[in-house]
Amino acid sequence: GFHADDDYDYLFKVVLIGDSGVGKTNLLSRFSKNEFSLELKPTIGVEFATRSINIDDKVIKAQIWDTAGQERYRAVISAYYRGAVGALIVYDITRNETFEKVITWLMEVRQHTDRNIVIMLVGNKADLLTLRSVRTKDAETFAHRKKLHLFMEVSALDTLNVDNAFTTLLTRIY
Ligand code: GTP
Repeated sequence: GFHADDDYDYLFKVVLIGDSGVGKTNLLSRFSKNEFSLELKPTIGVEFATRSINIDDKVIKAQIWDTAGQERYRAVISAYYRGAVGALIVYDITRNETFEKVITWLMEVRQHTDRNIVIMLVGNKADLLTLRSVRTKDAETFAHRKKLHLFMEVSALDTLNVDNAFTTLLTRIY
């Protein structure tokens, strides 16, 4: 339904993290504006976008933060995580090195956030099946072992599971 911009019951801050190029910015633009870009344009600094969804009879406004995966922009790190109640740790299913870095991102999240934060592991670019280098099973096992609450494979390009991932995370937070 329609909601005025400031008409909501809950405001949840969610952060997107993961290596450069895994598709964080496109996941955010797909969810918040239903837009996707093939352009490779690294994020500079920090951006955020919002979208409100209904859960039960409540309006949940998600404020989703996106920052560069590249090391040199990471000076604002504690401000980035401040107040976050949810995190999406994103890797690219076609680049195993981005999956191997998830553990590092996880440690960073744990270090900077409240222990109640809800974390979802997200394997993006699921449309590129023939280029897959991370098996679903291995990611599932990892998520389970690290006590990550949620795991999903998604595609910002063909919209697979994008709404589902954000909605599942927000519902768990709620
Ligand atoms: P940084 O800002 O550098 O941290 O990168 P990012 O994680 O925000 O990645 P971004 O969204 O800029 O996407 C990187 C590249 O991957 C772009 O060329 C996108 O078009 C492409 N891409 C993003 N999501 C998908 C997807 O689901 N499928 C495919 N095939 N390509 C994608």
